[in-house]
Amino acid sequence: MNVVVEPAKVEDKAVLRRLLELYLYDFTEFLPHDLNEHGEFGYQYLDHYWAADERETRLPFLVRADGKLAGFALVRRKAGGPWTMAEFFVMRKYRRGGVGSRAAREVFARCPGAWKVSEVTANTPAQAFWRRVIGAATGGRFTEEESEKGVTQAFTIAG
Ligand SMILES: CC(C)(COP(=O)(O)OP(=O)(O)OC[C@H]1O[C@@H](n2cnc3c(N)ncnc32)[C@H](O)[C@@H]1OP(=O)(O)O)[C@@H](O)C(=O)NCCC(=O)NCCS
Repeated sequence: MNVVVEPAKVEDKAVLRRLLELYLYDFTEFLPHDLNEHGEFGYQYLDHYWAADERETRLPFLVRADGKLAGFALVRRKAGGPWTMAEFFVMRKYRRGGVGSRAAREVFARCPGAWKVSEVTANTPAQAFWRRVIGAATGGRFTEEESEKGVTQAFTIAG
């Protein structure tokens, strides 16, 4: 399958908003979100991804598999801090076929430097996924910290 990661343009904001609803719905397996009275989960930080802000960088990406919308990545870095994967999603249809791995590697390649990726405690599939992907991207050179919220991998992507 051909996997492409493309920067999401401001015109793609509505597409990302819809994909975020699918992601947040999936996430109710792990975190107890409720729908609002419009029947939406809502994602309050979406507009920030196209806002000029000197204190941080936010990069929105769409993921396509064989040309079809298959997921997204939202990447964030506070000034002076590491890159973080704020959100990352692959549609169910495309899972376990390497789409997530290839998309994550592409995102890492676009954002070299220090990274931190966190997963909530209950999201054990994502923990397995990130350990595998980060391990492959770094030759196993990453650390992992556990907190009451979940686990965080720290590593560096060479430029
Ligand atoms: C986590 C997620 C991104 C994985 O995407 P994917 O396209 O299925 O990942 P890949 O096919 O590249 O998987 C690579 C490897 O990660 C591991 N992995 C992926 N999904 C897994 C799962 N559900 N259970 C256990 N291991 C898993 C496996 O080792 C897998 O290799 P294999 O299929 O050869 O065994 C996807 O399941 C998803 O979007 N989940 C919902 C949102 C989410 O949890 N996002 C991450 C937030 S931190």
